[in-house]
Amino acid sequence: MIIVAITGASGVIYGVRLLEVLKELEKDITLLVTEPAEIILKHELGIDEEQIDSLVKRHYDAKDLTTDINSGSCRFQSMVIVPCTMKTISAIANGYTSNAITRAADVALKERRDLIVVPRETPLRSAHLENMLKIAQEGGVILPAMPAFYHQPQNIDEMVDFVVGKILDILRIDNQLYHRWQE
Ligand SMILES: Cc1cc2nc3c(=O)[nH]c(=O)nc-3n(C[C@H](O)[C@H](O)[C@H](O)COP(=O)(O)O)c2cc1C
Repeated sequence: MIIVAITGASGVIYGVRLLEVLKELEKDITLLVTEPAEIILKHELGIDEEQIDSLVKRHYDAKDLTTDINSGSCRFQSMVIVPCTMKTISAIANGYTSNAITRAADVALKERRDLIVVPRETPLRSAHLENMLKIAQEGGVILPAMPAFYHQPQNIDEMVDFVVGKILDILRIDNQLYHRWQE
């Protein structure tokens, strides 16, 4: 099982596209969406949280700290937080597990599972950088929402697919979402 969390940063399109691709690949996905993310989903993509329900097997309330994924005994394999706010990064870095996203990320780090965090903020202050460093030092992967241009994207979808392809690479899921250099 893979946990995908969408938090209230700009770039929720990355999270929704990841869900679409994982659905095509028939992966077992548990989704968590924060309240700020619901507002951004509406603003940037014109969609409600319910409209992405069909892409996933389970959708838990991010405020619910009683579900299976809140426990270290839950054998989820990987967690991706995309996009990830500086607030959520701060909570993860400092072990402040006040919702199901930060708690599951805490479990991922303590149980040595895959944790991929996709920050979206610019510019960055030192607290942001220090918090990302803490997560990286514990084995989390910091994968900024930072599309490249060497694959010569022709539109926004191709820029989004570059970032989503990089997430799948870290998850060790074979994909052709972007053109690899000299392939
Ligand atoms: C339109 C809009 C865009 C935002 N974009 C970002 C962003 O890109 N990165 C970020 O760290 N916070 C961003 N925020 C602020 C977060 O939504 C805010 O810190 C919130 O408390 C995050 O909560 P969450 O991590 O639980 O979703 C944005 C807020 C709004 C209203």
